[in-house]
Amino acid sequence: MQTMDYFEFLDQERALIIKEPRCPQPWINYLSNGRMHAFVSQAGGGFAWWKSATVYRLTRYRQHLAPMDGPGFYIYLREEDGTVWSPSWRPAETELDKWKAIHRPGISSFEATYNGLHAQLDLWVAPDHDALLWELKLSNPSNRSRKLDAFAYVELSQMQWTDEFNWGYYIKYMLRTDYDEATRSVRYLFHHQSHPNISEVPLVYFAGSEVDTWCGSREDFLGSYGSESCPKAISKGNLNNRGISCGEPAAALHRQLCLETGQSHSLRFALGVEPGALLEPERCKQAIDGLLPTLLSKEGFDEQRERCEKWWTTHLEKLSCSLPEPELQRMIETWSPVNTVTTARFSRSVNATAPGIRGIGFRDTCQDMIAIAYRRPDWALDKLRSLLTEQHADGRANHTSYPIEKSPSNESLHSDNHLWLPMLAHAIAVETGDPGFLEETASFYTNKESATIWEHLMRALRFTESHLGSHNIPLTLRSDWNDIIGKFSKAGRGESLFASFQYVYVLRQMLALAQWSGRNDDADTIREWLHKQTTALDACAWDGGWWRRGFDDNGAPVGSRSSPFGKIFLNPQSWAVLARVGSREQQEAGMAAAAEHLLTDAGLKILSPGFKTWPEESNPFSGYGPGTGENGAIFCHANTWTIMAEALLGHADTAWEYFRRLVPENVIHRFGVNTYGADPHAWLSNIVGPENTRFGWGNVVHITGTAAWMDIVATQYLLGIRSELTGLRIDPQIPTHWTGFTVRRQVRGHWIHLKAKRSGHQRLQLNGHIMDPSQSIPWQRLAAENEIVAEM
Ligand code: NOJ
Repeated sequence: MQTMDYFEFLDQERALIIKEPRCPQPWINYLSNGRMHAFVSQAGGGFAWWKSATVYRLTRYRQHLAPMDGPGFYIYLREEDGTVWSPSWRPAETELDKWKAIHRPGISSFEATYNGLHAQLDLWVAPDHDALLWELKLSNPSNRSRKLDAFAYVELSQMQWTDEFNWGYYIKYMLRTDYDEATRSVRYLFHHQSHPNISEVPLVYFAGSEVDTWCGSREDFLGSYGSESCPKAISKGNLNNRGISCGEPAAALHRQLCLETGQSHSLRFALGVEPGALLEPERCKQAIDGLLPTLLSKEGFDEQRERCEKWWTTHLEKLSCSLPEPELQRMIETWSPVNTVTTARFSRSVNATAPGIRGIGFRDTCQDMIAIAYRRPDWALDKLRSLLTEQHADGRANHTSYPIEKSPSNESLHSDNHLWLPMLAHAIAVETGDPGFLEETASFYTNKESATIWEHLMRALRFTESHLGSHNIPLTLRSDWNDIIGKFSKAGRGESLFASFQYVYVLRQMLALAQWSGRNDDADTIREWLHKQTTALDACAWDGGWWRRGFDDNGAPVGSRSSPFGKIFLNPQSWAVLARVGSREQQEAGMAAAAEHLLTDAGLKILSPGFKTWPEESNPFSGYGPGTGENGAIFCHANTWTIMAEALLGHADTAWEYFRRLVPENVIHRFGVNTYGADPHAWLSNIVGPENTRFGWGNVVHITGTAAWMDIVATQYLLGIRSELTGLRIDPQIPTHWTGFTVRRQVRGHWIHLKAKRSGHQRLQLNGHIMDPSQSIPWQRLAAENEIVAEM
């Protein structure tokens, strides 16, 4: 099957059309209002959760077990002759005459035609109510009337996901499903006393606009050894109107319909929650009873859909562009920022294979919020405030936290976590222009002490300053950004040059913030630390042809010509440029060495050559086989910084080429849908490298820092509109085979209309006035609407 037979993009509608349900992996879309969440695949598989997929998981999903990608949000249409089909193809799996799935930001649709009858199922989460809405539209353009039974079905979960695995065989006695006639809804109560937040445990409902029969039991619905594709209840044609007070919970609703020639009919369903089911059962029930009549009305659904679409339009319209290559444009305008919202909401925790148990990664969330900051600085600032409560008074930050699950934070000690905080603060400052937030007070992790945000940031620097090794380079500790680099510092003496480059980058940002906000004493201190660190780097970081990665416990260099494996790592080459360390020649040489040793058809490998692992090597770098994960995969997250570095060096062709190469659609065209496997509309963490037989296989989709940094890199370094503290930097990178491009961006309440042209001369004009292209445009020179022409 050809790639284009699988999918296409409709850019005007911001839509991905999937034309074949049997994708190699689930290609998913996230539906969410920030509290109620779900993801759904092209085949209707997926699950719903409220706030946390670990403690409020509402429906079940097989993340590792076969058959894959089920259950989900299922519709069965049973014809008079007993044939059963589903608009999302799954679960019935009947071959359909026409079929497509459409993922749009926040909304997924399935359109199918079978034997002359047309069905469309739309799913989205209501922005104002914690409910997943299902709208099923049926129409009969054929010349005969059609009788059919429509069923909607979800398999309910025991909410606490890991407990369900461990203790489900006892917990199944602690739940109940029943039916409320007045609101036509199955109600699900989970009453296990070990829930971390008893007062919030929700009452779950699955309600329909029209219902004839219902069922609250998976066993009754599927039947003994029944399958999702062919449940016993569907063969019978109606449901048994029975709930359970123990067992495997489910919610199914059924409606009998007759569609005359030319007639259409819609059924609406809502899967939602109301907290307080255990401690305030009456209030909880009344809230649902009061909500459902309005929510389930046509007007209620239309209003919630409009508000969902509006949220996304407002978010996405803040930046648009017109580029000669549509594959790049659609990623930058639509799917990258959509993906950034996903990571901002779910960090690294939930996708079709990730169950949601890993909490909020500190470094991860800081990076996600740096990307959110240019569209929603308010959201980024809120998150900064909560991240600060995970910072200790000595400046270090926890590695992960579980604000909803209420589990203890992971306090392991890393060289980088705290260093992302000043980067986030800087991103907020440049987008708002308001230093006021630095004065806000926030408590430290143990709650015994609080300090201003500025002091929190200074303590982050002090922590690194007081944890330097024998080369005056930051100790690696458990790791830097790279989770497994701590292998070289088991005895605690290893040093990380990546952390050092990041430290220098952060010191420069903090120096700018200190000067901008009038903190002269701190500026002097930071200047001293900056001098000390760049001097240390000058003395030990250069390996002759490229930048080293660090030093192991014995002081031996890592990422050096003298190393048998992992001779060269990607990150130090790019971060030396970002941190403005070394000479221009060294920076250029490092980037050239990266291209020479690490570049593949799918992007740059994180290191080369890959380390051997067990059993060939008894004390390996890690368990990752060569070419996989952090042992030599094409690590897309790390590629983002390479693109940024190439752009900063003014290498427009290379910067865009590295970006182009990783655009998922392009990788799919090069390697094929089945080799790559992953979604065409989302970034992923890494692609298996050439040292492995699965070269080209894409992994960890949607929930990756690649999303955040690709969004930043493309908009601020390739399109080149970048907020700085004192002005707006205009630095578009135009590849030699393009004549130019245009960008429209909102920043600090100004609209920027940029025309970037290739003319062979560096020139900059603002609203008809000649400006110095090497300087940023002072904020006060910007009007509400601005025409900017940048030539290069
Ligand atoms: C994924 C982790 O979530 C992230 O924190 C880390 O920086 C990267 N892997 C690289 O190791």
